[in-house]
Amino acid sequence: MAKQKAAAINLAFNHGWTYAPAPESTDHIEIKSQYDLFINGKFVAPTQGQYMDSINPANEKKLSSVAIAQTADVDKAVKAAQQASTGWQKLKPSERGKYLFRIARMLQERGRELAIIESLDGGKPIRESRDVDIPLAAAHFFYYAGWADKLAYAFPGRDAQPLGVAGQIIPWNFPLLMAAWKIAPALACGNTVVLKPAETTSLTALKLAEIIQACELPPGVVNIITGAGSTGQALVNHAGINKVAFTGSTQVGKAIQKALAGTGKKYTLELGGKAANIVFEDAAIDQAVEGIINGIFFNQGHVCCAGSRLLVQEGIKDVLLKKLKLRMDTLIVGDPLDKNTDIGAINSKEQFGKIKNYLRIGINEGGNMHQSNCTIPNKGYFIKPTIFTDVAQSSRIVQEEIFGPVLSIQTFRTPEEAIEKANNTPYGLSGGVWTDKGAKVFKVTGKLKAGVIWANTYNKFDPTSPFGGYKESGMGREGGLHGLHAYVKL
Ligand code: NAI
Ligand code: MG
Repeated sequence: MAKQKAAAINLAFNHGWTYAPAPESTDHIEIKSQYDLFINGKFVAPTQGQYMDSINPANEKKLSSVAIAQTADVDKAVKAAQQASTGWQKLKPSERGKYLFRIARMLQERGRELAIIESLDGGKPIRESRDVDIPLAAAHFFYYAGWADKLAYAFPGRDAQPLGVAGQIIPWNFPLLMAAWKIAPALACGNTVVLKPAETTSLTALKLAEIIQACELPPGVVNIITGAGSTGQALVNHAGINKVAFTGSTQVGKAIQKALAGTGKKYTLELGGKAANIVFEDAAIDQAVEGIINGIFFNQGHVCCAGSRLLVQEGIKDVLLKKLKLRMDTLIVGDPLDKNTDIGAINSKEQFGKIKNYLRIGINEGGNMHQSNCTIPNKGYFIKPTIFTDVAQSSRIVQEEIFGPVLSIQTFRTPEEAIEKANNTPYGLSGGVWTDKGAKVFKVTGKLKAGVIWANTYNKFDPTSPFGGYKESGMGREGGLHGLHAYVKL
């Protein structure tokens, strides 16, 4: 970071400003030393009295202790959700909508606090939690609040009935946002829920529990239980749930699918990805460079739809690579709470180890690794923005989801070759196409086997648009009108 700081100081000097890092203050941000389980509208201690640490990945210090729910706690939560179900279903749909609007507004009111806690607990830059995660979480509640009393219009001529209790398991890359993606449509359709956040990022879900309590949602309609994989497993296997909604690794997604086979429980799975971001010779190159940067370095690359494979047309490879490297050198890696930070901390020690291992794999496979010239803090889990050239389609770093700030770069000559390479993956979640020709956008995107494809932009999200994948990226859609389907029987 020394070089960037020097550049910033020079800039400041030339303009007569003084340079100062701009860390967000944590004054008035309350993180309790210990959090219990949110069951039936109350925070209750876990039956076996076990807690796990939640760590700040930017400094490896403990932030709080979070309860571990065992099978007996999962059972309590599911029973609370079952008991709350009848009353919640009987409530006038417009009244259900009002609760969702209330939650949405309180998420906005407490936006600063939530953004800071999200960045402390998960390592993402405050600019992203403040401008993306928290506003989008509120937007999801607003959006589905609107549907609550309009289901007859969503399913014309059909009778849309709630499923009952939804068991929801979410990952650590967008903690509060994923909670919103799961809870809002479920409640709008008249279901009750038991949600389990990821073990490294439980805190904003527990803040959401406080918000839900403050909004006086009837007890048991939303239950939030913390714990790791075995808690998730107990939830999936509980006979009292009617639906599982899971976002996470393909490996766990497959295990859940097996566990649910023959049970009659409905499920949606949003799993991994290895998206191709395709840049044609006729693309606006500077915009494409911004899109590549955003595609792979947004949220440290912990994004299931990240543009982690760059496919660039041969004629512009050299100029594009030169521009990309220059742009990478301007990225500031460091304190997630600093408003200037572009890339924060890797979410956990495990993920840090996994990414470092992939860097070794890439080098051993003969890839040519380049990292930006930034410096990184010596405490905490940080990885410099990384690109690999000279990789083969069969390279593991081209085929496997790394879930970090690591981009593999390949070239192509014709659109057909680009499409073939893009589709040559077990995943099918997302993709990007950069070209000046509208016709080419339609021709290429029509042939990409992926659920979400952006043209001349990347990583844009909106509650009105459906999201989900093909193949090993999962099944079912979340968001938009499609997102309602997952929570009703017709
Ligand atoms: P994971 O799939 O183990 O964790 C996701 C959630 O599932 C967490 O809440 C976890 O506690 C829960 N879980 C774990 N095992 C379970 C089980 N057997 N039954 C029910 N729930 C279970 O993902 P992990 O290990 O944190 O990350 C590993 C890799 O997975 C990442 O490196 C990344 O490649 C991928 N991943 C993809 C995500 C996506 O959004 N598509 C999100 C998180 C991880
Ligand atoms: Mg944490």
